[in-house]
Amino acid sequence: MMATGTHKSTSKDTLRQVLARLEREGAGLGHFNVADHVLLKAVVAAAADTKVPVLIGASEGEREFLGVRQLTALVKSEREESDLPIFLNADHTHSLAKAIEAAKAGFDAVTIDFSGLPFEENVARTKETVQAIKAINPAILAEGEIGDIGTGSEIKETAQGGQLSTPEEARQFVEATGIDNLAPAVGNMHGMLKSMVQGKAKKHLDLERIAQIKQAAGVFLTLHGGSGTDDEHFRKAIAAGINIIHINTELRVAWRESLDKSLARDSNEVVPYKILRPVVDSVKQVVRARLRLFQSVSSDAVGTVA
Ligand code: G3H
Ligand code: ZN
Repeated sequence: MMATGTHKSTSKDTLRQVLARLEREGAGLGHFNVADHVLLKAVVAAAADTKVPVLIGASEGEREFLGVRQLTALVKSEREESDLPIFLNADHTHSLAKAIEAAKAGFDAVTIDFSGLPFEENVARTKETVQAIKAINPAILAEGEIGDIGTGSEIKETAQGGQLSTPEEARQFVEATGIDNLAPAVGNMHGMLKSMVQGKAKKHLDLERIAQIKQAAGVFLTLHGGSGTDDEHFRKAIAAGINIIHINTELRVAWRESLDKSLARDSNEVVPYKILRPVVDSVKQVVRARLRLFQSVSSDAVGTVA
């Protein structure tokens, strides 16, 4: 039986409290990347419509474009004005310096990503970064990544990654690094194939492996590369132990398609907010649908962290 979860989270709740509550209820937290103000407005509007918590993410490239302190200030003002639990994550952070920069700016979470390095080096660099950002803000949520799921929220010709993370490496990694949440490779992949953009193919996850990793790791789990994933697999992945789901390419596709359409409508239109308003709306629809899906509570939720 599925039911839509009802959440009483407010802007006063911490990210950890929100995650624990969602986990108890068998729901997941949506993480949506923003690269400009249009995307940010769309995510905030979707959160306001659905009244559910949301995690806004910005990778190093997205942060560089928006400005680390500027994005922090924008999200803070949205959170205060809406009284919604809107959080901010420094997504795919590949250096200690960038992690420290985000922690100092006031980000709620950091995705520490040394997954491209050999396992032992990934452990050492992640551990060092966890300690550094916790020294700045002990409440910050530190995420670590293992395995290869490819890079880039883009439209791709061929699939990337493929090898699944094992429960044993998950357990070792969590114990050795002190991370709060783990992002493993469980059949997920960054970006979308053309067939996925056309709706002809979907990503499928290894649900059994997710449950085994949850059991072994005993921390919150994050699913990266969520775009184009089968709806039912999303629901079952949350029930198996996934807490945070990252979506980016789907938003970028909606942004691009809608911007093309809006520009084509009238070549003499030069008023930015008239051109961009429909783009905000299109991206908002995508985010809202995903937020609702992640709240579709499944009765077979496991919940081992909260
Ligand atoms: O960190 C960002 C995500 O993992 C997004 O992946 O572009 O496949 O949705 P996606
Ligand atoms: Zn990612």
